[in-house]
Parts: sequence; C-alpha cells; structure tokens
Amino acid sequence: MNTKDEKYAELFPQIKSILEGETDMIANMANVAAVLHEEFNFWWTGFYRVVSEDTLLLGPFQGPLACTRIKKGRGVCGTAWEENTTQVVPDVHLFPGHIACSSLSQSEIVVPVHDRGGRVVAVLDIDSERLSTFDETDKLWLEKICDLFSSTDY
Ligand code: SME
Repeated sequence: MNTKDEKYAELFPQIKSILEGETDMIANMANVAAVLHEEFNFWWTGFYRVVSEDTLLLGPFQGPLACTRIKKGRGVCGTAWEENTTQVVPDVHLFPGHIACSSLSQSEIVVPVHDRGGRVVAVLDIDSERLSTFDETDKLWLEKICDLFSSTDY
C-alpha cells in the first residue's frame, strides 16, 4: 500500500503530461478532477472558476451535486480566493461561513489556481466525508498540481 506522498508523486507526472497535451482549461480541469477523485476516493473533487470580480462558478467536478455560485470571501472557496492562500479545514463545522453543499462533508482543502500573471482564475476544492483528511502533504502536492495551470496561456 503506497503512502499518500508516493501516490501523489506517481500521479504528478501523469497530470503534468495530461495538461501539456491540451490547451483547453475546462478539459484540463475535468481530467485533473477525475484523476484525483479516482485515485484517492474523495467525497467531492472539483473546480470553481472566477467568472467576475466577485463570483466563483462551479466548474468541472466529480461527486454529488454542488452549489453553483460562491461570492468572493464566502465559505472556504471564497476565502481561498480572497486571501489567495490554500485553506486546509480539518472540521468544516468549525469554519466560519462554511457553505454546506453536502451534510456529509466533514473536512476540506481549497487551493487557488493562478494564471501566468499570478491572478487567481479558479480554486480546486476537495471534500472528504471524514474529519482531518487533509494535511501538509496534500497542500504541497495539490499546490504543485494547481501551479501547472499557470504555465499555459488559456
Ligand atoms: N464547502 C465549500 C463549498 C463548495 S462545496 O463543498 C462543493 C465552501 O465552503 O466554500
């Protein structure tokens, strides 16, 4: 049984080559969500894209139905966008303003995705139905994966 770090290390070059082979951001987000979701059996794995000055819109994802629009600064996703930092949330019930798309979600990580110029263009949101699923290892690798989006002009 591989450790989480080994799994990410194995997945990373695969994800890198998927992204290098395609220039459409939505298609790439769809495949990144699929690969992560399949490998780790997360509860919900997907992207929200920045579509205006203050709104994130649901993008490609795997898992159950989710809310479609999130305002800047709201919930874990809106906070990651506003503060431009990864949010690791061990217990979503303790996060002020957490948006409960599913009552089964217990912990969450949200990582900003930047364009070449360093602007936040999306966030990667992953939810778990267990508490404290995400740690520094997830943060490190998921940031590395999201950084791949900033090397292409979409
Ligand atoms: N929980 C998120 C909302 C998105 S869903 O979990 C898919 C949040 O608080 O931003």
